[in-house]
Amino acid sequence: MIMYTLEELKRYCLKCKKCRLHETRTNVVFGAGNEQANIMFVGEGPGYNEDMQGVPFVGRAGQLFNRMIKAIDLTRDDIYIANIVKCRPPNNRNPLEDESQICIEYLRWQVKIIKPKIIVCLGAVASKKLIRPDLTISRERGNWVEKGDIFFMPTYHPSYLLRNVKAKKDAWEDFKKIRDKLDEIKR
Ligand code: URA
Ligand code: SF4
Repeated sequence: MIMYTLEELKRYCLKCKKCRLHETRTNVVFGAGNEQANIMFVGEGPGYNEDMQGVPFVGRAGQLFNRMIKAIDLTRDDIYIANIVKCRPPNNRNPLEDESQICIEYLRWQVKIIKPKIIVCLGAVASKKLIRPDLTISRERGNWVEKGDIFFMPTYHPSYLLRNVKAKKDAWEDFKKIRDKLDEIKR
C-alpha cells in the first residue's frame, strides 16, 4: 500500500470533490496541530468560521475548546485536531451518512500517519462514527474504549457546552481523565 505523508494527503484533500459538500464549501478544513501528537481530537465538521479560514475549531466552540485543553496544560501545538467531514455542511446540519462514509477515509489516513495513542471524540457524530454507532454521549461519556492500540473517549462537543453550561462540570471530569491518561502514556 502507498503511504502518504500528511502534506501529500492534505494537498489531495484540498482538491477533493468526492461528496456534495464540495459544492458549498469555501475551504476544505483538513486538520491542524502537531503531526507527532499523542492525542487527537475529532469534531463533526467545519462551521462558518472554520469554512472561512480553513482551520478547525476557530469559532466560539473552538475558543471554549482552547480553554478546556489549556486547563489540562495543553496547547493547540501539543494536539492534532480534525473533523469527520472536511467541508462545511450547509447551515451546519449534521453530515449525512454518505458524506461521512466517504470523508472519514481521509481521517483514517490521518490517524495512520499521526499514530495518536488517544483519540477524543467531541460529540455524538464523532463518537458514533469512531467508537460505536449506537453509543449515547450522556451515558457513555468519559469512559475509555480501547480499540487496536488506541484509547478512545467520547465527551461532549464544545458547542453543546456553550448551550448547556451545567454539563461543563462533567466535561471537566472527562478532561481530568484525559490528563491522567496522557501522564500514564508518558511514563
Ligand atoms: N465544530 C466542529 O465539529 N468542528 C469544527 O471544526 C468547528 C466546530
Ligand atoms: Fe471530499 Fe470530504 Fe469535502 Fe466531501 S467533505 S468533498 S469527501 S473533503
